[in-house]
Amino acid sequence: METLLLRADNQPDRERAGEILRQGGLVAIPTETVYGLAANALDGRAVRKIFAAKGRPADNPLIVHISDFSQLAPLVDSVPEAARKLAQAFWPGPLTVILPKSPLIPMETSGGLDTVAVRLPAHPAARAVIDAAGVPLAAPSANLSGRPSPTAFTHVQADLAGRVDALLDGGDCPVGVESTVITLAGGTPTVLRPGGVTLRQLRAVLGQVDLDPAVLRQLEDGAKAASPGMKYKHYAPQAAVALVDASPESYARYVNGKGDGWALCFDEDVAALTVPSVSLGPRYDGARQAQRLFWALHRLDELGVDAAYAHCPRRAGVSLAVYNRLVRAAGFSILRPGGPVVVGLTGPSGAGKSTVAKLLEKGGCVSVDCDALTRSPQVYDTACLAELRGAFGDAVAPGGILDRHELARRAFPTKEGRKALGEITFPRILTALRERVEELAAKGRPILLDAPTLFEAGLDAVCVRILVVTAPREERLRRVIARDGVSREEALARFSAQQKEDFYTDRADYVIENGPGMQLEGQARWVLEELDSIMEAKGGAEGHRL
Ligand code: TXA
Ligand code: MG
Repeated sequence: METLLLRADNQPDRERAGEILRQGGLVAIPTETVYGLAANALDGRAVRKIFAAKGRPADNPLIVHISDFSQLAPLVDSVPEAARKLAQAFWPGPLTVILPKSPLIPMETSGGLDTVAVRLPAHPAARAVIDAAGVPLAAPSANLSGRPSPTAFTHVQADLAGRVDALLDGGDCPVGVESTVITLAGGTPTVLRPGGVTLRQLRAVLGQVDLDPAVLRQLEDGAKAASPGMKYKHYAPQAAVALVDASPESYARYVNGKGDGWALCFDEDVAALTVPSVSLGPRYDGARQAQRLFWALHRLDELGVDAAYAHCPRRAGVSLAVYNRLVRAAGFSILRPGGPVVVGLTGPSGAGKSTVAKLLEKGGCVSVDCDALTRSPQVYDTACLAELRGAFGDAVAPGGILDRHELARRAFPTKEGRKALGEITFPRILTALRERVEELAAKGRPILLDAPTLFEAGLDAVCVRILVVTAPREERLRRVIARDGVSREEALARFSAQQKEDFYTDRADYVIENGPGMQLEGQARWVLEELDSIMEAKGGAEGHRL
């Protein structure tokens, strides 16, 4: 088949694409998430061609794309209040909503289900093509079934040239992973596929939102998938990918030790690696990782890589989407190097970290008070004191004895001072911490690092999980005022010098909400169960399957 190459920024080309679609043809179009392979969603015959071109199993339903909210009502049984709220908050954008379908939707589009998935994309070219076609468009990702989704035009060409009527070139896709899929078709709203819109964002609009278990784990044989797409092997490059669930330090050690593969890692990992690598972006920048994920998987293919060890992303925020795709690309093969399970516990002041630490200790964790460690004589040895005198003057350690007040007075007020202090003390704190962790490892329990400056001091290097405790700002202020006996002004001044709440939650695997009326025990129990399952998996054979 001859495939027409069209440009997304050219209106006559968009209209041409619309015309082909109206006549029952197939066109690959850019969206803000990934490229989609579109057909008229209301024409069963046209939709069947999508399945043929992609080699997609017929029971895997398609997402229907509309260009205006008013086009939703005819496609569904009814538009519930929750759908209105979601549309208001997230459309146009990377969110797909599942509702009971109307008779207008053919069985081919819904994969035989009585529900339909609908999305209003943010990409202007996608909406222009829908308008030009004058019909809603069914569009799965524009890749051959099982392959990584296309986020660059060259990926689309490689998979689909010669198999479809036209390809519309819109450059790179800004979000980079497919839309978040949420079902409103029964009971509690449930996320079936994580994406650019996060669980936290959805909960802020709808209240309770569940996460389908298949997002994180492999379905048992024979289990029925809420989202049929979840049961197929997906996103796989030619290389054998394995996910390494490890702290930054132990990831580097493990991958270097293997010596035979490539690392699919984060920017911060690269310096410690002796094997070649492809980076997904900064460790805590989920949006950037999402943008680069499929590019990186395609890149492994271009490089002819046989085996890649991927550093496990966080299971929260946009990173959850990255994790969900990677664990499927890896066929659920997860490697857990030996060593203790170390969890960083942090959060903004007044959130109640110590309360949570106590609960977790009761549940069997052992904890390290990193503030105390920071002040320990082990950190301030003779060499350290000499460096401090060099940086801040002899008065910070007269006669070789540290004067904490003087050091604080000289180092804390300026950014340069804090940086210089950190450069001298942080590596020593990390060394002291490694030793402490070694000692505690013998207990065979999860180790909690209670560390207000976990990230600033680089202590996250030894953590396999990050647990953040938060509470509403007003409540935190109240607690700090009561605990430290400071005025509201002083407490506010402290807060403005500290990281904002998002800084912590963006970096978390688990978030415990410790506001008034929150059930701490339940949240702590859930975290403990998670940690137990990691301990158990580590005890088992390498390559344990979740
Ligand atoms: O961002 C996106 O959503 C992209 C772009 C092109 O819009 N599209 C996309 O489509 O990712 P696709 O077909 O690759 O993924 C659709 C997912 C599949 O996992 C499918 O099983 C699920 O949505 N899905 C579709 N309709 C469903 C339904 N009625 N019930 C449950 N899951 C459904
Ligand atoms: Mg797909």
